[in-house]
Parts: sequence; C-alpha cells; structure tokens
Amino acid sequence: MSNTQDPFTAPFGTLFGDKMTVAEWKDGTYTYSGGAGPLENFSLHPATHALHYGSTCFEGLKAHRQHDGSLGIFRLDDHVARMIQSISKLRMPPPGAELLRTMIIDAVEANAGFTPDPPGSLYIRPTFIGTLRNIGAAASPSTEGLLYVITSPVGDYFAGGIRPLSIYVETTIPRTTPQFGMIKSGANYAMALGPTLDAKRDHVADQVLFATGGDITETGASNFFLVDHERLITRNLDESFLHGVTRASVLTLAADMGYRVEERSVPVEELKAWAEHGEAFLSGTAAVIAPVGKIMIDGEDIQLGDGRPGENTLKLRQALVDIQLGRTEDVHGWRTPVAG
Ligand SMILES: Cc1ncc(COP(=O)(O)O)c(C=O)c1O
Repeated sequence: MSNTQDPFTAPFGTLFGDKMTVAEWKDGTYTYSGGAGPLENFSLHPATHALHYGSTCFEGLKAHRQHDGSLGIFRLDDHVARMIQSISKLRMPPPGAELLRTMIIDAVEANAGFTPDPPGSLYIRPTFIGTLRNIGAAASPSTEGLLYVITSPVGDYFAGGIRPLSIYVETTIPRTTPQFGMIKSGANYAMALGPTLDAKRDHVADQVLFATGGDITETGASNFFLVDHERLITRNLDESFLHGVTRASVLTLAADMGYRVEERSVPVEELKAWAEHGEAFLSGTAAVIAPVGKIMIDGEDIQLGDGRPGENTLKLRQALVDIQLGRTEDVHGWRTPVAG
C-alpha cells in the first residue's frame, strides 16, 4: 500500500487509491477508454451544470479482503442498479449496467493494493456530474457529463470497539423532499446537515433519526431497524427515503436466521414502547450495523435495554460481516470476486 497514512487512524474517506476510471457522456454516448488512469483533478468550466443546478449523484460500496486472501465486492449489481436509478431520476440517460459494472471492477483492480485487511476495506465511490456549460439551464437537465469511480481505503468505522449511538428523533423537519428520497444525491445530505448539526450541538446526538409527523424513515446516512429475539422491523419502502443495500441484506439474513421480518410503517410511539424490551440499530455501507443505545425524543432521553449493544444486533452484524468477508457461503450471490 503506497498511501503513507494509516486508514485505521485517518478520518473515513480522506485517503484515496491512486487510480480512477472515467467515462465521458456526450452526444448521447458514454465513452470509456477501458482501464484505470491516475487519480487526477478535473478541469471544470465555472458554468458547469452540476455546480449550479445539482445534476450529480453517487454511490457507496465496498470491496473486502476475503478470508482466503482474494478480493470481493459486496452487492455490486445492487449498487450499479441504484446508481442507474439515481441518474434516471435526475432526468438524464444513465449508462448501461455493464459499463458501470466494468468501470467499478477496473477501479477496484487498479487500487487493490490499497485495500486494508479486515475490519478495514476499500470503499468505492462511483460519481456522476453533469458538465453542460450553461447557467441558464435551471429548468433543463445537463446533456453531457462525466462518470467516474474513485476508491478510498477505510478502517473500521468503530475504531476501539462498537459504541452504542445516541439518536435524536426529529419529527418536524424532513431529511429531504419526498421526490428526492431515493436518489443518492448531494442535495439530500446538504439538507440533512442543518438539523444534524443542531441536534449534535443541542442534544449531544450522534445522528438524527428523521420521523416526519411521527413516521420513522432513516437517519442522514443509514436505515433504521428494531429487533428483539423474535422480530425484525423496519419501515416499508416508498420513494421518500434511500433503499439501503445493507437494509436489504439485513432483511434477507434475518429471515434466513428465523426472525419474523416486518416491513411496515414504524410510528415513533412504537419506538418508545420498544425501548423497554427491544434493541434498535442503524444499517449502512459505512457503518455496517451500528447499535443504538439511547433515543432522545420530545424532551425525553430513553435508554434501549441496558444501553449496551444488544445480542440480536451483534448476531446480525456478525452474519453480515461473515458473508462480506467470505467466511460463510455466498448463498445469495452477493460477492463479486475481483483480481488483486
Ligand atoms: C440517507 C441514507 N440512507 C440509507 C443508507 C444506507 O444505504 P446502504 O446500505 O446502501 O449503504 C445510506 C448510505 O448510503 C444513506 O446515505
């Protein structure tokens, strides 16, 4: 590994593999030269559409060093499908799945040497930006763009062990607008920033759980679950929040493990009552599965269980990590082997 900094001590996302893949979209066609080049700056015109009118989106997935020393990307095709969906929902023609898939694999293979051993991984960031030069195009999409894939060696999100999170439940301000909920777009994160910073300052919260009108959906960067010894509950999918790939994986694994799985609306009142006996956790590519120790709602601080990571949360986390690292059989076809 040629990065001099240690991914286990550097902040998540601040180190980079030194290669990237790039395709140019112009005149209706995506052109990819085939193969990775050096990670380097772009030169963008100051009128670039993405910088003014938000014609941009991205993905976040991981390649893991496997138990046997090989390298595997977790749920590549699901992330490719979501990126294509994001670009389409921004009303621009997406690349074919095969092209994006190839660009991700090429980027991972070119940066394979940057992959830290578990619990670290190579975080992969496919990105799309609309590059039309037109500051008058507020009401029309970009007609040209750049699609690229960069990578970042990352350590364990929970350096020093898993720490139960304190969550502030926000019932008034939404994370984003309903028509943008399923798009992995920077605008959504910008919208969530204000309420998240306020909750960190005013309530010493780690994260905000958005529950507009009492209807629990997701936090700023993860999905939300309730679990006990029998049941696993999460919000049913609609267009208002991100359809997490980790969320889908947890639902499948929990059903395999014998939990009764419920996808439905989760009212805040149920969360309060659940805290008396059950567990709660967040799910996402970066954090994997993160236990919740405390919820802050309506001026009340409510502890979940004894405030420590719950047994069922840790069991599900282990099952997920085992499949990501190739320790268990890939019965659902979630791992894509890559060279390196
Ligand atoms: C808003 C939001 N919700 C949920 C998730 C979890 O999605 P995934 O499990 O695909 O990483 C993420 C992270 O990507 C996110 O940013």
